[in-house]
Amino acid sequence: MSSIATALTRQVGIEVPVICGAMYPCSNPELVAAVSDAGGIGVVQPLSLTYVHGYEFTAGLRLIRRLTAKPIGMNVLIEQSSKAYLERMRRFVDTALEEGIRFFVTSLGNPRWVVERVRPAGGLVYHDVTERKWAEKGLAGGVDGLIAVNNRAGGHAGGKSPAALVEELRDFGVPVVCAGGIGDAASFRTALRLGYAGVQLGTRFIATDECRAAPAYKQAIVDATDADIVLTERVTGVPLAVIRTPFVERVGTRVGPIARWMFRHRRTKRLIRTVYALRSIWKLKRSLMDGSSTRDYWQAGKSVAGIHEILPAGTVVRRFAAAAQP
Ligand SMILES: Cc1cc2nc3c(=O)[nH]c(=O)nc-3n(C[C@H](O)[C@H](O)[C@H](O)COP(=O)(O)O)c2cc1C
Repeated sequence: MSSIATALTRQVGIEVPVICGAMYPCSNPELVAAVSDAGGIGVVQPLSLTYVHGYEFTAGLRLIRRLTAKPIGMNVLIEQSSKAYLERMRRFVDTALEEGIRFFVTSLGNPRWVVERVRPAGGLVYHDVTERKWAEKGLAGGVDGLIAVNNRAGGHAGGKSPAALVEELRDFGVPVVCAGGIGDAASFRTALRLGYAGVQLGTRFIATDECRAAPAYKQAIVDATDADIVLTERVTGVPLAVIRTPFVERVGTRVGPIARWMFRHRRTKRLIRTVYALRSIWKLKRSLMDGSSTRDYWQAGKSVAGIHEILPAGTVVRRFAAAAQP
């Protein structure tokens, strides 16, 4: 097994600087475990584990533990939506710590409370950022590393190129991980050459044997080119990268005029955000496993350009590791 030493592998205690990023609804236990077992690190998405894949949270973590003894991580979405949501996230973090997880990836908000819980237990927190000002906020909250989400990423993409982002973030002195656009070993090598300490992949790991996405969704990733990826506001209310299917073409990518008005106004913004968030949870769950509806949304990033076959997740990690050997 080839291993590659970077600031990420040394800090997190893994062999290959490849993170399988959290994916709602695509992160299932078998996928998370397969990436970790091959020497990278799989990140659990709590809502995906419980609501989509039907596990009680602790039972889901224990299943992953039975599949691999290697480190795994957990995603903490820290958006200030509701008190009940935050309370649930806090409980997820505490349970994850009790179950031995020591690597946390935070997105969307101030990660300070996560750092305060995780650090005393000897854990690490990496924070998703799309630009320098969010990195400064995350580092002020005490995070140990940054995940630089670029303009080629799946999920909610950033606005900057991988090269521009690493330039903007390198002087903080913490490991910076490239998220977005990495579909093959060549782009992995390029990211390391640019100065990244590792990569976080989403889309590449959907097109794997272990991911429980519908076969039609995986095949759409294999067939797509980067020109087929569009940003739609219609799922979550903010631009989300999806494959342009006939359905997406028909309904367009903008929200309707009433929703647009509600998103713009202070009084209605919170309500419409909540409506979209709840609806997207249901819509994306349906799109994941069915794959036969003509109204599905298939999330994917521009890394589709480098994805030409469905592979075992461990093979992806091992190919990347082999390609990065000097
Ligand atoms: C289907 C899908 C769902 C995602 N869901 C989440 C999520 O729940 N939380 C999160 O922090 N990032 C999420 N992401 C972002 C990924 O963790 C990762 O940063 C991104 O996919 C990297 O870009 P790539 O798809 O080009 O590899 C998602 C990405 C995809 C493709």
